[in-house]
Amino acid sequence: MTAVPSTFEAPIDPALLAQMANALFSARPPSSVPSLPLTPPGVQAPVNIAPPGSPLASPAGLGPSVPGTPIPQGQVPGTNVLPASPTPVLSLAHRAPALAPHAVAGNGVPDNVYAAVPGYEPRFGSMQGVPGAQDAGAERTAPVAAVTPHTPYYFLESGHGHPSPGGAPLPAGDPLDALAHQPFATPEPPRAVQAAPVGTLPSTQPSADPRFYFVDAVVLPSGYVTPAKPSPHGDAPLGAQERHPPFDVHAVRRDFPILSERVNGRPLAWLDNAATTHKPRSVIERLSYFYEHENSNIHRAAHELAARATDAYEAAREKVRAFLNAPDVNEVIFVRGTTEAINLVAKSWGWQHVGEGDEIIVSHLEHHANIVPWQQLAAAKGARLRVIPVDDSGQVLLDEYRKLLNDRTKIVSVTQVSNALGTVVPVKEIVELAHRAGARALVDGAQSVSHMRVDVQDIGADFFVFSGHKVFGPTGIGALWGKREVLEDMPPWQGGGNMIADVTFEKTVFQPLPNTFEAGTGNIADAVGLGAAIDYVSRIGMENIARYEHDLLCHGMRLLGGIEGVRLIGTAADKASVMSFVLAGYDTDEVGRALNEEGIAVRTGHHCAQPILRRFGVETTVRPSLAFYNTFEEVDRLVAVVRRLASLRRA
Ligand code: ALA
Repeated sequence: MTAVPSTFEAPIDPALLAQMANALFSARPPSSVPSLPLTPPGVQAPVNIAPPGSPLASPAGLGPSVPGTPIPQGQVPGTNVLPASPTPVLSLAHRAPALAPHAVAGNGVPDNVYAAVPGYEPRFGSMQGVPGAQDAGAERTAPVAAVTPHTPYYFLESGHGHPSPGGAPLPAGDPLDALAHQPFATPEPPRAVQAAPVGTLPSTQPSADPRFYFVDAVVLPSGYVTPAKPSPHGDAPLGAQERHPPFDVHAVRRDFPILSERVNGRPLAWLDNAATTHKPRSVIERLSYFYEHENSNIHRAAHELAARATDAYEAAREKVRAFLNAPDVNEVIFVRGTTEAINLVAKSWGWQHVGEGDEIIVSHLEHHANIVPWQQLAAAKGARLRVIPVDDSGQVLLDEYRKLLNDRTKIVSVTQVSNALGTVVPVKEIVELAHRAGARALVDGAQSVSHMRVDVQDIGADFFVFSGHKVFGPTGIGALWGKREVLEDMPPWQGGGNMIADVTFEKTVFQPLPNTFEAGTGNIADAVGLGAAIDYVSRIGMENIARYEHDLLCHGMRLLGGIEGVRLIGTAADKASVMSFVLAGYDTDEVGRALNEEGIAVRTGHHCAQPILRRFGVETTVRPSLAFYNTFEEVDRLVAVVRRLASLRRA
């Protein structure tokens, strides 16, 4: 019988080995990290079997390629970029981005796998549909001049407006500017828009005589420049397109495969964007790419895929930082979404800082996700929840808010855009007043990030939260941004792997930000998908999105408000996306069903915001909500159905 040794001595302690590896990689600039051979000796390089024209058929630096050519290992399909050197395993990208330069947006690697494909189409649809494809690749792709249009496809070279098929032309000199100065609740006399009979679909082609729906001098996001008025023929005056290239919604729509669906025999009109948004092809394919080429857990394991996955994940964090204009990437915490982010703050910061007799302020507009966690905290701690009232348009009453603030106020938590009414809340003022009272402030950006540029430094709040799926990214991923000093002072809210530096049975030492708040394996692929969504909207430009949507919203509010029996719920002067209403004689569900029969998707119900609906004396509304891929035709189709219902009821 062989004696079994009672102990086994490893030649070197694994922890020490990992420590030495980290020290080695941390000490070297990326250029000095030795490149691994792309293909080990004796192993044949993988062959590109992609069909001609496929985005996967492009070899390094050569644009469209010949299938059958080898793909160098480590290269992202469709790009001409090889990482200068592989990011070391045990990647520290989130700590020191300079160690993983290729993971940073704009350097051409996995975080935008489409960046340098000059003109891809067949299998995956038109590459024209990926904003920034041309410009992002311009520096790296030799024949780019030949394939890159002068203007990105989603902006038109010459004047082009938003046709309203089935509608009479707008009266000369009467674009929506006059209307835009009026409250939404006071519709002008209905213009001669002929409703398309239900069942008769308006053309989805741009009309032969495109018209603008521009408005002047209304409340618009910063950065917006009022366009010159179009000529009666729809041509932008000279110089106008330089300042404001018109937005071609039909081109943008081609990027969203689901928008070609038919529902009940009709083209889908997705007017449920406040519930969730659809995903551009670049997001869908980024997810596939992750699972096909990068899938691994992150921040651990001594292998290549762990490094790729970590780099992609941390690059997405950097994209979120840039999107919010946050000062520090480590202040961005990935969470499941807005609800989880608010719960995190309430259960970590709130548990630590809110005590008996303290006060928490929310507004009457809040989604249940920004009420319930605070209510739970207040109940547990003996604190009090106080509510900023709104006026009859649905705007918060700042004077009433001022009266609520006092030295017991610990936190003010408000939405930036109401999900039920669309009100754009003056969060900057609210935050400033909270700070003057010595309170912290949280802004819920779930309904704002897809409609306007957000700058957390300008808003000045301590926390900002949003969900990826509301901004054309995947579900199950979102972000909490917090000021470093505030986050660093908060206890972790969940314990487990990934968030620890050292664990003994006596004591645990936590990782610094952001890992402190990311216990367990997170939603890695969807964080990467969120990064792709941010790339997408950033290339279109949030100002362009805001301007187009504003015109669309003015159009919809005016037409809906002009229908007898329609009561608009939420008519604040500053609104985004949402057009809640009720129709006399109909349950909101009945209206929703009639719309669905025509392929039009809206949400009906309480929208997880019962207090604000009750403030207006209703339990439910019909809630069409817009995104930048919606068209004037779709809004006209919605209006036609509501008009038909209204007229049937009256007859
Ligand atoms: N919060 C989402 C909505 O407003 C679900 O519909």
